[in-house]
Amino acid sequence: MTKSEISAFTRTGHYWSGLTLSVFIGFHLFNQLTALMGADAHIAVMQGLRAVYRHPVVETVLLAAVVFQITTGLLMIFKQQRSTGAEKIQVYSGLYLSFFLLVHVGAVLYGRSLGLDTNFYFAAAGLNVYPVTFFFIPYYLLAVCAVSLHVAAIHYRKTGSLRWSRAIALAGLLAAILIISGFTNGFRWRPMPPANEQFIRQSFGV
Ligand code: HEM
Repeated sequence: MTKSEISAFTRTGHYWSGLTLSVFIGFHLFNQLTALMGADAHIAVMQGLRAVYRHPVVETVLLAAVVFQITTGLLMIFKQQRSTGAEKIQVYSGLYLSFFLLVHVGAVLYGRSLGLDTNFYFAAAGLNVYPVTFFFIPYYLLAVCAVSLHVAAIHYRKTGSLRWSRAIALAGLLAAILIISGFTNGFRWRPMPPANEQFIRQSFGV
């Protein structure tokens, strides 16, 4: 393979793994928004979605897409000069998404390996237990905003439409605020099952 063939492979691979992940993220964020209707509604929707993404073939493709997306994204960042505002937004949001995906998917797989059900309460424990909530609110808020900023930057570079790109970015911010509100019961905080609270306290040593 020549150098230009390798970079074409990296670019095409990043595009396809990104598209695969986008389908999951669309449903996943919809699932997180159902927290606004309470824990039971969130768990019921997740159970329906799990029937698809927990299928061994689908989950293998999804986790491979996560690894591929991070690897090819980082390879492109280090190889290419970025100068416009949209290019910078794409790179910085992509860098945060790489960090988030590693930690988030790592935590989910680790929790599952300990026998925890990584359902609503797994995420809610981080957002409702003091003082770790000060880490998890910006952590999830930035993740949802990074997704929409990444998409908005790509949309702007492809179409030049500032109006739609701004709308995509703002929709992400609104979704992020609604998700955090749903998980924390409008910042009135939710009681957590002891196993979830213990997991989060042990993980953070608090
Ligand atoms: C506030 C936002 C989010 C919350 C509360 C959240 C919560 C969760 C939970 C509870 C799981 C476990 C699912 C299960 O056990 O079936 C999970 C899995 C996952 N999340 Fe998120 N998530 C959020 C945002 C994101 C974002 C922005 C991404 C991608 C950029 C993402 C990617 C994933 C992936 C890839 C998995 C693993 C799916 C699997 O194989 O089981 N999440 N998330």
